[in-house]
Formats: sequence, C-alpha cells, structure tokens
Amino acid sequence: MRDLSLHLLDILQNAIKAQATSIWVLIEEFPEADRLTLTVKDNGIGMSKAILQQVQDPFFTTRTERKVGLGLSLLKANALQTGGGFAIASQPGKGTEVTATFGLSHIDRPPLGNLGLTFTTALGSRESLSLTLTYSKGRAHFSLSTGDLLEILEDREAFHSKKVLDWIEAYIQDAVKAIQTP
Ligand SMILES: Nc1ncnc2c1ncn2[C@@H]1O[C@H](COP(=O)(O)OP(=O)(O)OP(=O)(O)O)[C@@H](O)[C@H]1O
Ligand SMILES: [Mg+2]
Repeated sequence: MRDLSLHLLDILQNAIKAQATSIWVLIEEFPEADRLTLTVKDNGIGMSKAILQQVQDPFFTTRTERKVGLGLSLLKANALQTGGGFAIASQPGKGTEVTATFGLSHIDRPPLGNLGLTFTTALGSRESLSLTLTYSKGRAHFSLSTGDLLEILEDREAFHSKKVLDWIEAYIQDAVKAIQTP
C-alpha cells in the first residue's frame, strides 16, 4: 500500500507535466465525519472532455513510453477501497482539480507519509513553481506556500540547496506531527 504522500507526488507530477505554474494542495481530516479529503488543483493545460472520460481507466495514458497510466487510477482505487470517492474536473487551458475522499479510520486508508519530502521533490522538479500545501485536522490547521518561503529565504536559488530543502521538509513534517498529536 502506498502512502498518501506518494499518491500526491504522482498527482503533482501530472500537474507539472501539464505545465502548471501554480498548484494548490489541500489535505483535510474531518474526525467527526470520519473522512479525509485530498484536493489538488492546478492551472495547467487541462484535459478535453474525451480525455477526462478516459483518465480514470488504468489502461489510458498519453504517455508514449508505456501504455498504462497509473497515477489517477491507483488513487481512485485506494479511495474507493476505504469507502470514499473520487472526482476529477478539468477545463482545457484552465486547469484540473482532483479530489479523493477516504474513510479516515478505515484500515486501508493510507497514512500521510512524508508530505515534506513530496513538497520539496515537487519544488525541485520545476523552475518557478508556485506551490501551496494546507493540512488540517478538525480545527487545527497548517499552511505553507512557496510565497511564504520566499519571504524568509529571499531568493529562489535557495530552493536548489539541499540544506534548505531538508529544512523545509523537516519543517513540514514537524508541523504535521504537531497537528496529529496535539
Ligand atoms: N493535472 C493534469 N492536467 C492535465 N492532464 C492530466 C492531469 N493529470 C492527468 N492528466 C492526463 O491523464 C492521463 C492519466 O494520468 P495518470 O497519472 O493516471 O497516468 P500517467 O501520468 O499517464 O502515467 P503514470 O502516472 O503511471 O506515470 C495523463 O497521461 C494525462 O494525459
Ligand atoms: Mg501520472
């Protein structure tokens, strides 16, 4: 079973491949409703209606190296396995929004995993990407964007430094842990 952070990395890579310059990630835990939702919104090239209908099928991909696209169908399968749901909306030229809902306490619900590493990996894989991550559990809430980081670090060059990326990763992991174990 894969962690949510690995599913997220796949979805981020799809957005980056679709030339997104801004990506918004929202992970929300609703303990009372026993639900977890993952939403990833991008401003990339989007998909036509025909492609949109096909993308949830594991045998569809616009990749040329291999025939099976796994990112979306694995996420969907995992969400449904926990009694959750899956939705994808897209507009050509505007962008795409993927939403997966999980049963929060379901035994097959993937753990969050290393969200910090997923964030820094995405940062490293595209020049001048604007990325926002928000994580909430009930009323506790944490949000970090590349804009916030640039205010501290002052220039984007810092995003190429392993020391800085390690610091960002640890910062996110600490914040997530603080929310999970208040
Ligand atoms: N955010 C997005 N914007 C535009 N098109 C997308 C986006 N996400 C997915 N797609 C389209 O949906 C197809 C299927 O995506 P999926 O992640 O399931 O497979 P893949 O990316 O082709 O392969 P894999 O994820 O296994 O490397 C992609 O090939 C792409 O055409
Ligand atoms: Mg993919």
